[in-house]
Amino acid sequence: MNHRVRRARHADLGRLALLHARCFPADAWDAVALAGIIAMSHASGHFVADEDGTPTGLIFDSIVAGEAEVLTLGVDPAQRRRGIARALLADFLVRARTAGAARVLLEVAADNEPALALYRSLGFERVGTRPGYYAKPSGSTRDAWLLRRVLDR
Ligand SMILES: CC(C)(COP(=O)(O)OP(=O)(O)OC[C@H]1O[C@@H](n2cnc3c(N)ncnc32)[C@H](O)[C@@H]1OP(=O)(O)O)[C@@H](O)C(=O)NCCC(=O)NCCS
Repeated sequence: MNHRVRRARHADLGRLALLHARCFPADAWDAVALAGIIAMSHASGHFVADEDGTPTGLIFDSIVAGEAEVLTLGVDPAQRRRGIARALLADFLVRARTAGAARVLLEVAADNEPALALYRSLGFERVGTRPGYYAKPSGSTRDAWLLRRVLDR
C-alpha cells in the first residue's frame, strides 16, 4: 500500500500527541514536547494519516552534521503490519541522504522484537548497548541497543 508522508505542522501536534500516547502508553510525549522538537532547526516531524485525516503513524527525527537520528517512531496499534513504519522510514532515509547525512542512528529497547525486525529489514546493524537506558516507574530498567545504518552516497 502507498502511504503518503506529510510534514507535521503546529496544528497537527495535538492529534500526533494522542497517537504517541497510543503507541507509547508508558512514555507519551505531549504536544508541548513535540512542539519543542519541531522548533529546532535540524529536527522535524512527519506522519501518515488515514482517509479521514486521522494520523496513523509518526516519526520525529533530527538530521544534523552528517548524522541522522530517529527520535521517536510509532504506528497506531490498530494499523500495524500495513507498511506504515516502513513508509515513514523510507521517507526519512531519503530526507537524510538529501541533507548529506552519512549515517543514521537510533536507540531501541533490546526486547522490542517488532522494532528490531523492522530495523533489521532496513539494513540497520547493532553498534552498541546502553545498559539500563529505559527506566520504568516501577524502578526496573531495560537495555537499549544502539543501531546504525550507513547511507550510500
Ligand atoms: C515497530 C512499529 C513502529 C512497526 O510499525 P508497523 O507499521 O507495524 O511496521 P511495518 O508494517 O512497516 O513493518 C515493516 C516490517 O517490519 C517488521 N515487523 C514489523 N512489526 C513486526 C512484528 N510485530 N513482528 C515481526 N516483524 C515485524 C517486518 O519485517 C515488516 O515487514 P512485513 O510486514 O512485510 O513482514 C510498531 O510496531 C510500533 O509502533 N510499536 C510501538 C512503538 C515502537 O516500538 N516504536 C519503535 C521504537 S524504536
